[in-house]
Amino acid sequence: MSDKDKIFIFDTTMRDGEQSPGASMSLEEKIQIARIFDELGIDIIEAGFPIASPGDFEAVTAISKILKNSIPCGLSRASKKDIDACHEALKAAPRFRIHTFISTSPLHMKHKLNKSPEQVLDAIKESVTYARNLTDDVEWSPEDGTRTDMDYMCKSVELAISCGATTINIPDTVGYTIPSEYTKIITTLKNKVPNIDKAILSVHCHNDLGLAVANSLAGVQAGARQVECTINGIGERAGNAALEEIVMAIRTRNDLMPYTTGIKTELLSKASKVVSNATFPVQFNKAIVGKNAFAHEAGIHQDGMLKNRETYEIMTPESVGVKKTSLVMGKHSGRHAFKEKLNDLGYADVTDDIIQTAFGKFKILADKKKHVYDDDIMALVDDSLITDNQVNAINLKSLKVFAGTGEPQKAEMTLDVYGEVKSTSETGDGPVDAIFKCIKVLYPHDVKLLLYQVHAVTEGTDAQATVSVRIEEKGKTTVGQAADTDTLVASANAYLSALNKMIIKRKKTAPMEHETQKVKGI
Ligand code: KIV
Ligand code: ZN
Repeated sequence: MSDKDKIFIFDTTMRDGEQSPGASMSLEEKIQIARIFDELGIDIIEAGFPIASPGDFEAVTAISKILKNSIPCGLSRASKKDIDACHEALKAAPRFRIHTFISTSPLHMKHKLNKSPEQVLDAIKESVTYARNLTDDVEWSPEDGTRTDMDYMCKSVELAISCGATTINIPDTVGYTIPSEYTKIITTLKNKVPNIDKAILSVHCHNDLGLAVANSLAGVQAGARQVECTINGIGERAGNAALEEIVMAIRTRNDLMPYTTGIKTELLSKASKVVSNATFPVQFNKAIVGKNAFAHEAGIHQDGMLKNRETYEIMTPESVGVKKTSLVMGKHSGRHAFKEKLNDLGYADVTDDIIQTAFGKFKILADKKKHVYDDDIMALVDDSLITDNQVNAINLKSLKVFAGTGEPQKAEMTLDVYGEVKSTSETGDGPVDAIFKCIKVLYPHDVKLLLYQVHAVTEGTDAQATVSVRIEEKGKTTVGQAADTDTLVASANAYLSALNKMIIKRKKTAPMEHETQKVKGI
């Protein structure tokens, strides 16, 4: 056992992270993410906001049943109905946390809640006491904490602890604070709240000024022992503090931050991929998990690296699970070798069905492509994990595209729409437009295309392309991704994936749409 202070890692990818536009995840994706988070060593997983929608409720319930190590948590406002929904969704887990919050800044109390400071104190007392009667593990957050009057914050924190809160989380809801100010807030709470030793202090920072990680680490150095964060830093607006950055900063600069976390850092890259597959791609220069995070382009850097890695490398790619791209598999590789390869790449726990599907795709790919790299294999396994776990309403049967100069571009497409096979042929402003038009004709719908993005998975003209598509319908957004050596096939499948998710979302949110919008608009 290390004698260093432990920093608890509280992940909110599936709650605050999901609140970022385009990041909504299906139940299957959330379950897949939760399994990886459990293995990664995350201490507490905030799996959703159970009152917000039937989909959130269902996800929190399902995740609570499968976690082996992590503690599941649900979010609730200061209301008995919210807390009851949390309890109901979490109660299958042997241990669980209820996280309840209310705004405490003058601005929020007046304009958002229309409550006086005294009324807010009453609500804190009532909600924390109520939650504590349902579990011993209660977290309380003063929303907009960093714009709250400090004396009032001390008073409300003391009250929440005396009513049974065991974790006190101080959110920088609007990403407004800076490290020195946040240090002062945490230090003041430690010095002025008489019962502060009965709770763990937690930090929760948003990234509007690009300071979320710096602020979180400042909070830890001032005495906080829990960090709330998300994989890839996804979250409302500019996002939340990125889990992988917090953990690797603590590990790399342990000389200045002598703490431990329970995170198995070698799984960070895998966790990042699974989250980005379900949400949106990670920027190339993103710290720790971006494609370029360990790439050295300049000749002088490459020369230094060859002489001694430490010249330009403060942590190894292996420490975050980045494997060197290697040429390993070809069309003669068998199922056994493929399974071994998946083990090496960190996919030891995938089911035989997924291996079978991925192996079939691998054989097709190996026929088309001269070099099959690790990244290619990972892309097609991730694709199989996401698509094969859910029954899609609409599936691509065949696609032919006529492109080039002169003629208008044309696509011929056959789709299976709810079991009925339908075909059409459409022209468009470019091949992608023609493909999307075919889908619209075969399954009439009215969505807005917000994003269409193509990435090459590996190098070379025969590389697999991963296409991301984000669509919007009545304020709801979904993201679809697909990989194929044919960019146009990947484009059709990515659009269909986003559309299939939208169909699921329509069904799941319809009965409580009004409530969802109200809640998500916090
Ligand atoms: O940013 C915030 O204030 C939150 C709270 C609900 C904890 O996410
Ligand atoms: Zn937040």
